[in-house]
Amino acid sequence: MSSRASSPPEPEVGRVPSIRDNERLWNKKYDWSRGGSEWSSLWGGVESQWHWVIFPRIHSFVPALNILEIGAGFGRWSEYLKELSTSLVLVDVSERCIAACRARFADDAHVSCHVNDGRSLAMAEDESIDFAFSFDSLVHVEQDVIEAYVSQLERKLAPEGAAFLHHSNLAGLERGVEHTHWRAPSVSAESVRKFAEDAGFVCVAQELINFGDSHVGRGQELIDCFTVLCRRGSPSARPTRMAENPDFMPQSELITKLAPLYGGFGDHEEEDVRVGPGRLRRFLPRMRRS
Ligand SMILES: C[S@@+](CC[C@H](N)C(=O)[O-])C[C@H]1O[C@@H](n2cnc3c(N)ncnc32)[C@H](O)[C@@H]1O
Repeated sequence: MSSRASSPPEPEVGRVPSIRDNERLWNKKYDWSRGGSEWSSLWGGVESQWHWVIFPRIHSFVPALNILEIGAGFGRWSEYLKELSTSLVLVDVSERCIAACRARFADDAHVSCHVNDGRSLAMAEDESIDFAFSFDSLVHVEQDVIEAYVSQLERKLAPEGAAFLHHSNLAGLERGVEHTHWRAPSVSAESVRKFAEDAGFVCVAQELINFGDSHVGRGQELIDCFTVLCRRGSPSARPTRMAENPDFMPQSELITKLAPLYGGFGDHEEEDVRVGPGRLRRFLPRMRRS
């Protein structure tokens, strides 16, 4: 296994991550004692990674009435998403992860937690999801799984809904990379965009990023991609905007330096992700779909 805390390990399972391998790794082998916060340490912790890395990329779509998170893990991002929604549906292939989420969000009646088979979104009603989100999870699934999720999302999203999906771009690279961080080799930005467009989506944005050791000058390759999708006819629809961002990992140093100036108030540990965005959710009931 990789010793780096910044990214999920390269496990002693198949080199190509199958659903079964994912289930085995996250259900049994992985040490979840830090709840996934270990992957945020390069950004100075979960709170700063959320506010400086993730929120700026999804701010146009939240708060949202109904949010779906695919591959929730131990709820590292659900903690924030639950404050930005009146209904949050968490899905994960790992029973252990969903058990942890059920315990963590036991007092949050609007959060529902579901174990799935690694591809089904049957737990979400058609046209019910205003925002679908996945970060750090679908990078480990192959194209067939991405296609299963994307084709269902086309039905599950509300007419004006959108999806933010973090996935592999290994198949889009011209050369092989030394550290794949267990990214799925069959997936690329292009393959996801093409499939999504064929499925009826508009792909409004794709950002190719590096991930892992690149902050120290290794692994500059753009092995990952963030894809933003909306439905045809949605007010968010527009031609695809694309960016290559080799500064994604190097920026973690700057974020680690600056984030403590503007956050971390209150009596809590650095890793305490329960110090979340707060307060926004009480305004959500006033929101109405037009
Ligand atoms: C690296 S962890 C990230 C968890 C969470 N997104 C986070 O950032 O803390 C990967 C998660 O994806 C889940 N996962 C992997 N393959 C999946 C699939 N096909 N469907 C749903 N969840 C999956 C795993 O069970 C695990 O919880």
